[in-house]
Amino acid sequence: MDSISIRGGARLNGQIPISGAKNAALPLMAVSLLTREPLYLENLPSLADTRFMGELLATLGVEVAYGVNGGGPSAVRLQAPKLVSTLAPYDLVRKMRASFYVLGPLVAREGEAKVSLPGGCAIGTRPVDQHLMALESLGAHIDLQDGYVLAKAPNGLVGAEIAFPFVTVGATVTALMAATLAKGRTTIQNAAREPEVSDVADCLNAMGARISGIGTATLTVDGVAQLGGATHRVLPDRIETGTYAMAVAIAGGEVDLIGARADLVQRVIDVLSEAGVEVAETNEGLRVARNGHRARSTDITTEPFPGFPTDLQAQFMAFMATAEGESTIKETIFENRFMHVPELSRLGAEISVDGQSASVTGVERLKGAPVMATDLRASVSLVLAGLAAEGETVVNRVYHLDRGFERIEEKLGACGADIRRVSS
Ligand code: UD1
Repeated sequence: MDSISIRGGARLNGQIPISGAKNAALPLMAVSLLTREPLYLENLPSLADTRFMGELLATLGVEVAYGVNGGGPSAVRLQAPKLVSTLAPYDLVRKMRASFYVLGPLVAREGEAKVSLPGGCAIGTRPVDQHLMALESLGAHIDLQDGYVLAKAPNGLVGAEIAFPFVTVGATVTALMAATLAKGRTTIQNAAREPEVSDVADCLNAMGARISGIGTATLTVDGVAQLGGATHRVLPDRIETGTYAMAVAIAGGEVDLIGARADLVQRVIDVLSEAGVEVAETNEGLRVARNGHRARSTDITTEPFPGFPTDLQAQFMAFMATAEGESTIKETIFENRFMHVPELSRLGAEISVDGQSASVTGVERLKGAPVMATDLRASVSLVLAGLAAEGETVVNRVYHLDRGFERIEEKLGACGADIRRVSS
């Protein structure tokens, strides 16, 4: 299994291209199940997760062609003239939770689906009850059998009022995808406002769906009989943007994040500015700089968009581990999302956890050590900490990283980081 070795201390200078957003790309790929026509996606990130979604869709009957229109691996054509299966088996869903996104489109188009429950995962129990509630509201009959969700709507889905009790990105997307082909009007209350949800909605509208209220907490969907094809460009990854901004915050230096969009990370920019990091918009994206002085400690609480994203909490903690003063970090989205704490502590970070809150006292210097990646965001936080640690940090089990970060060692290496992948 590959590991990543980092020798800390180098400042970062140069440019980093920001890839398409993983969390938009995965549901966008599943959207192809809703139409017989081709869906062209551009700016698709080249990641283990997107490749895996392509494999899952292929088992259902979607033709998946990468590198179309001279676009290289970031351009894909997805077309499903006819679906050959409505089954997403345990072995596939278990590997990637986002596989569950095929459920809504399959029921909407074929009137039935059998999709494995994703099961627990490293960041808590992560139930799917709200996805099921949404589909039941739209008239699907749901049974749970032997770890599978069996959803049936032989006469098609019917528009309904769906009110989520809390903000959920996944269930909002499931409701949205399914409602596009339902008869009549669906209203989704307390919808997630994450930019990835809006990106999916924009793509669906380009395919002929009638969704309004995009970007707000109330989405209205007027069902249509069928959807057509479209060409859609995946929006830039705000989590990758924030991660590299924090890499600069930790290591010091000045880096241009090419293709990054300030409107997707405004809260993160505000927090970094408070901590003494300069972030400015340029014609090409964002410029992040920290020169000279040590950063200041700042408190954060993770919240649904436009709040501070939970997917940047671990990276921010790595940053705060080297800032001056004490910072309080509260996690409100997921239980058990502090698994990076013991690993950061191995690098010399001073962190204490009390329930969903962590208190971080910054130290002058972290010290390199071998560490273990436990999940995607946790593992990247260890890479960032390694940039600021004295000596060598080896991050083991980096397959988590490959699921969500495209060519991370190349992108950081090009800016002067001493980082390499060690294959074993
Ligand atoms: C998505 C992102 C993930 C991000 C998260 C929050 C993808 C592929 N993943 O995950 O990176 O961290 O949004 O921004 O886009 N919940 C339920 N029942 C449900 C669904 C969710 O109780 O049916 C709970 C979850 O356990 C969690 C909260 O709702 O506590 C928010 O989860 P949700 O926004 O749905 O996250 P995901 O869509 O799984």
